[in-house]
Amino acid sequence: TASNTIRHLISISDLTTPEFKSLVNRAAYHKKLIKSKQKPATLPLQGELAALLFTKRSTRTRISSEGAAAYFGAQPMFLGKEDIQLGVNESFYDTTKVISSMTSCIFARVNSHADIQQLCEHSSVPIINSLCDRYHPLQAICDLLTITENFNELKGLKLAWIGDSNNVINDLAIAAMKFGINVSIATPNGIEMEQFIIDEARKITNETGATLELTHDPKIAATDANILVTDTFVSMGEESQTKEKLKQFSGFQINNELTSLAKDDYKFMHCLPRHKEEVSDDVFYSDHSVVFPEAENRLYAAIATLEAFVINKGQFL
Ligand code: CP
Ligand code: NVA
Repeated sequence: TASNTIRHLISISDLTTPEFKSLVNRAAYHKKLIKSKQKPATLPLQGELAALLFTKRSTRTRISSEGAAAYFGAQPMFLGKEDIQLGVNESFYDTTKVISSMTSCIFARVNSHADIQQLCEHSSVPIINSLCDRYHPLQAICDLLTITENFNELKGLKLAWIGDSNNVINDLAIAAMKFGINVSIATPNGIEMEQFIIDEARKITNETGATLELTHDPKIAATDANILVTDTFVSMGEESQTKEKLKQFSGFQINNELTSLAKDDYKFMHCLPRHKEEVSDDVFYSDHSVVFPEAENRLYAAIATLEAFVINKGQFL
């Protein structure tokens, strides 16, 4: 069927290292164009619709994917869970068939990885995973763009993640390692990285030499880190576990005590939205923090993704 030949963006692991690097390069390229007030020479998606099928909240992903669609001339169409028949009156299968018959791509923010897989199976247009429980590839493209803007040589840097085992670090760890960055992940006792990420990381180590370190001690991760990263301790859909999780994460706040172990010129990153329990104001609003340029970079990541998967149909420049 057609779906077998369509390239979808599900996770960074699905991309070869050159493909992933190409996305980051193209994001930088379009950023430069936009910053110099230039417009793309043609509007390849003019007259088309880009669907946003979102069953969860979003600020950055929604704005950046709508902005990317507009940049190439497409009309973005936001389909929130209160707006459409999905889940109440209509099945996933029927909804996917119908949406894909009238649009050029579907940015999908859904709950489970299985939902993303179902979408890919039944859609006649590219699916762009815009966050599921396992992956957040658009964030990882953005984050590697942000890192390339802040460091000259990426190979051999140490990126420390102090936080949850979740969708954001699953893609960020693989993405960073593809660029030769060593990754050190501190999660609380009882929260482990998933085996499929550890297996994937091992393959990347063989390719680029980058290492993955797993610990339950935030200090081990923070020591000599060039980049400190975290995310919410309670992801969307886990609200009922808030009390237990916050208890588990005691000692995991990125604050001046922890950053004093990092390199003097460390950078702090966070995909946002942010809460004080995972990072203190001192760090979050410091000169080390690149969180707002990082958020803006989501736009250029979405543009590069639309270009590669929708306009160029899975051909990477
Ligand atoms: N970082 C991120 O995906 O933010 P939103 O949930 O606001 O889209
Ligand atoms: N881990 C967070 C990321 C939000 C952008 C979540 O899944 O809610």
